[in-house]
Amino acid sequence: MRKSSQKIVCIGAGYVGGPTMAVIADRCPDLQVTVLDVNLERIKAWNSDALPVLEPGLDQVVARARRRNLRFIPQAEGASYLAEADLIFISVQTPTKTTGRGAGKASDLKYVEAAARLIAQYAQGNVVVVEKSTMPVRAADRIKEILKQSKSRAKFDVLSNPEFLAEGTAIQDLEHPDRVLIGGENARAIDKLVQVYRRWVSKEKIITTSLWSAELAKLAANAFLAQRVSSINAMSALCEKTEADVEEVAQVIGLDSRIGPKFLKASVGFGGSCFKKDLLSLVYLCEHHGLPEVAAYWEQVYHLNEWQKQRFMQAVARHARRGTVAVLGLAFKKNTNDFRESAALDVCRGLLQSGFKVQVYDPAVDFERFADFLGRPVRLVHASTVPEALVGAKAVAVLTEWDEFKQLPWAKWRRLLARTAVIFDGRSILNQQALAKVGLEVRTLGRTRPL
Ligand code: NAD
Ligand code: UGA
Repeated sequence: MRKSSQKIVCIGAGYVGGPTMAVIADRCPDLQVTVLDVNLERIKAWNSDALPVLEPGLDQVVARARRRNLRFIPQAEGASYLAEADLIFISVQTPTKTTGRGAGKASDLKYVEAAARLIAQYAQGNVVVVEKSTMPVRAADRIKEILKQSKSRAKFDVLSNPEFLAEGTAIQDLEHPDRVLIGGENARAIDKLVQVYRRWVSKEKIITTSLWSAELAKLAANAFLAQRVSSINAMSALCEKTEADVEEVAQVIGLDSRIGPKFLKASVGFGGSCFKKDLLSLVYLCEHHGLPEVAAYWEQVYHLNEWQKQRFMQAVARHARRGTVAVLGLAFKKNTNDFRESAALDVCRGLLQSGFKVQVYDPAVDFERFADFLGRPVRLVHASTVPEALVGAKAVAVLTEWDEFKQLPWAKWRRLLARTAVIFDGRSILNQQALAKVGLEVRTLGRTRPL
């Protein structure tokens, strides 16, 4: 089949594939961008006004590009698009394996392998295959092996172009990235992808490396970010024992220009789909390569995070004593509807298992999906407003830093709570003094003794 203007296909229309392709299409009006997914509901949503991913600014980008050069279609209808594609991105999930070798730690590459088989089956001509999903280092070897089995005479180059966007700021991150990373072996293939990003990203910000450095740099970046959160969370526990204030400690260390102020906010634990799985993938790689000390070092970042969630949950449980707990915030951070690996999952699970009634409110997370994930426990109750969640609660747990939680009319709502109610602020967003004036005690991670 003859190729006309450059065509891009992306396999996977999730949190990364959807927004990333929307921005590429928006910034490159002359390119045709087609996104495929096996999940028909997701494809339908991408073609509607209710997009499946909540991201500030995404609606406008998608609306502009969808009228012109961006399509979302079911994977089953993708053969002709794959046959015409010059660049094919793989942006499918890479979760932790649940069975077999490396179960519980290693990344499961079955979705990536299925995507590679699809490419091998339909792609034609000279095709650049781009790993957008986060992969273990040397995963490109596996993709190359599958592509070799292609029956067409297609010629493939594999690049690693990991994504660094954070949820809630995806559009900002995609439009103004700190850096774009492209790892590869063939200069012409690398240049083909560089030319796409060059439409809106300056040359100095496009870093080219070997395939293996690119794959590992992505895992390393997430591990370093997670490590900072675990470091400040470790400090939060020591602050509670010593009457030091973790916000003050963070401010002081963040002013050291060698350390910097970002990612030093103590919290009820990091969540999200990637930090945990990428840390565990790194741990597995270290073990696999005979580096148990290095594996143990990174594994501790993960253990500390699990411990932080548990100790917060136990502090809430100790105070609430079998009563009702209000949970404000189910998302793993603000400005997203994503609750994958959120602290709320662990805190709610722990409280429910101990017999508490848990009334939850979140402005964006779909309660039905959240409840399904926890196995629909009867004591988990949906509140459609904050005051509804507060009714009769002996403890309130603030688990997401949504802006709307920062200025709630506590004076008005005080009477809804049990007389001895205490608020546990897992995000340090409430004003302890202001709440004390209306007779409400607030216990904040790293700032109150004891929590
Ligand atoms: P996701 O689960 O939201 O999306 C993956 C999509 O791929 C799903 O919709 C799934 O149906 C689809 N899919 C799977 N196999 C397919 C196939 N054979 N054909 C067509 N569609 C298929 O995952 P995500 O959050 O977008 O993450 C994707 C990758 O990007 C992961 O490796 C992740 O680690 C990485 N990443 C994620 C983020 C993030 O913020 N979520 C940021 C950077 C990197
Ligand atoms: C993270 C990285 O920031 C992205 O660069 C990366 O692309 C992405 O993972 C990925 O590979 O998926 P994301 O998980 O979307 O992005 O969100 P972050 O802003 O990194 O927050 C992760 C978790 O850490 C959240 O639960 C957040 O509340 C928590 N966090 C973050 C803290 O508790 N304290 C902080 O100071 C910062």
